[in-house]
Amino acid sequence: MRPTMVAGNWKMNGLSADAVHLTQAILSAGLEQLRPEVVLFPPFTLLHAVSQEAKGTALRWGGQNLFWEANGAYTGEISGAMLRDMGCRYVLIGHSERRQIFAESDDLVAHKVKAALTSGLIPVVCVGESAAEREQGTTEQVLQRQVEAILPLLNRESNQPNLIIAYEPIWAIGTGLSASPEQAQTVHAFIRNLIAGYSSQLAKKIILLYGGSVKGNNAAALFNQDDIDGALVGGASLIAGEFIQICRAAE
Ligand code: G3P
Repeated sequence: MRPTMVAGNWKMNGLSADAVHLTQAILSAGLEQLRPEVVLFPPFTLLHAVSQEAKGTALRWGGQNLFWEANGAYTGEISGAMLRDMGCRYVLIGHSERRQIFAESDDLVAHKVKAALTSGLIPVVCVGESAAEREQGTTEQVLQRQVEAILPLLNRESNQPNLIIAYEPIWAIGTGLSASPEQAQTVHAFIRNLIAGYSSQLAKKIILLYGGSVKGNNAAALFNQDDIDGALVGGASLIAGEFIQICRAAE
């Protein structure tokens, strides 16, 4: 049985007091006894606050992005080493908001994944098609391109996958219109199959998260699918009760 994960991507939301409040609420729900690993992705400015609350607990945290150099004259950027220094275990890479708003290409995503791995972080690589791509019937083509860009970075020497993939259909993000469990399962199976072509062993073990309008009331049906190992939650991760309900649904 694969491990499960529920991760909250806070995006560009929250101030210190919100981070403390939300982290404390999540910790007080006793999620440590639950099966899924619970991970928070606050903005960089809140990593310290989250880490102060969560250190010594089973709760994990990560950065929403990174730059590929360890340090230097890169104004405004954050490196993997800096994230490690904040106690991060994970980093999100290639979120569709970064691909679309900041023009991050598949190559750039691969570059960042490499940097994250070198820094000792576990990348959570986001992939997903737009509404137009789905309508045109190119979903699989798009996903294949995005996944194949990072496949060579999966370490075949190890029997434990060194990264996680999150399938986030762009049309489902923040729209309230989640992919149906069947739609999501079809894509997850497709992604797992692509990975199997590279390493059948890693394909069986890699964690594949679903993201896109996951809520307390639709999480269980998504998690019941064979190839969905958890969720990357946006809006609902800012509401303690809702996020806790999603974590419980992954039990
Ligand atoms: O990374 C999480 C994400 O993009 C999904 O956002 O608000 O639809 O849960 P949301």
